[in-house]
Amino acid sequence: MNSDYQHQSVLLEEVVQFLQPQSGQHFIDGTLGGGGHTEALLKKNGPEGKVLAFELDQRAIKASEKRLKDYQDRLFIINKSYVNLKIELEKLHTELPVIQGIIFDLGLSSDQLDKADRGFSFKDDGPLDMRFDDQNQTLTAADIVLTWSEDDLIKIFREYGEEPKARRLATGIIKYRSSWIKQKQKFTTSMFVSVILGILHIKNTARFKTHPATRIFQALRIAVNEELTNVKEVLPQAIEILPVGGRLVVISFHSLEDRIVKRYFKEQAATCICPIDAPVCICDKEAKVKRITKKGIKPTEVEVKKNWRSRSAILRVIEKI
Ligand SMILES: C[S@@+](CC[C@H](N)C(=O)[O-])C[C@H]1O[C@@H](n2cnc3c(N)ncnc32)[C@H](O)[C@@H]1O
Repeated sequence: MNSDYQHQSVLLEEVVQFLQPQSGQHFIDGTLGGGGHTEALLKKNGPEGKVLAFELDQRAIKASEKRLKDYQDRLFIINKSYVNLKIELEKLHTELPVIQGIIFDLGLSSDQLDKADRGFSFKDDGPLDMRFDDQNQTLTAADIVLTWSEDDLIKIFREYGEEPKARRLATGIIKYRSSWIKQKQKFTTSMFVSVILGILHIKNTARFKTHPATRIFQALRIAVNEELTNVKEVLPQAIEILPVGGRLVVISFHSLEDRIVKRYFKEQAATCICPIDAPVCICDKEAKVKRITKKGIKPTEVEVKKNWRSRSAILRVIEKI
């Protein structure tokens, strides 16, 4: 860990174990964050091996550049979404002709969650923002709450938050929001939490195991950053660019993301997708990958004790065949 960035990399040993970085091999880190996974790779693939890293958040990039200054001649950081993976790699083809492994450590870092001004958390007050890229992206969580239609709010609360009271909450927000817009109030996380609690008639949150606003905050974060769409978009690119024997590691932090990864890996590893009652195979499907982890890998108890935020992580690995 470094002093600027407090995020503790999750499942670090396991990532290294699965990617098996060797001297001279090149890797991609799709989610640089505080640079922990990238650093572990750079420690092993020197003196010639390189890492291409993507990161949307300029603050994270700054902190990582400082942390990884000793490796700057072997590290390429791109301040863009990892969905640009294939296109950006093509530009760097001479530097990185073969990519031996790719890691995506999805979601957000502790630093983003802990900084009130980023608006990810309902624990401290700050603008309801939630953008990973707060320099270039315009749409914030407040924009969604204040301008999206009732149907769209219901949809994201249901699909991205798995919130059973999606309709009630969306209807309540629509009812009250015109007065917030009229007053041109700066819409903050604690205001939004009060709105949620008000609509649900909750006075005391102590009796809830998870805070009643958790699912709505998750839904907004996923919508603002198009997180699920991005994962769906990048997985095929990642498999395509890997050579035979190359590996892809994905760490997810909630079931919606993990479901996408798990299904896609399973589908790509399948040899036949004919209906179960088909007498002979007519699909001619060939497996593109083999699953190295059939069941997702979870952090050990020791890791969870050291880093409570790792508790929901799940890691899956495939190898191109
Ligand atoms: C869990 S953190 C990564 C931590 C990192 N592995 C480490 O060891 O420090 C996830 C990071 O991915 C970034 N991120 C999320 N979606 C992204 C995307 N589509 N493209 C690039 N970076 C993204 C976030 O800004 C965040 O910094």
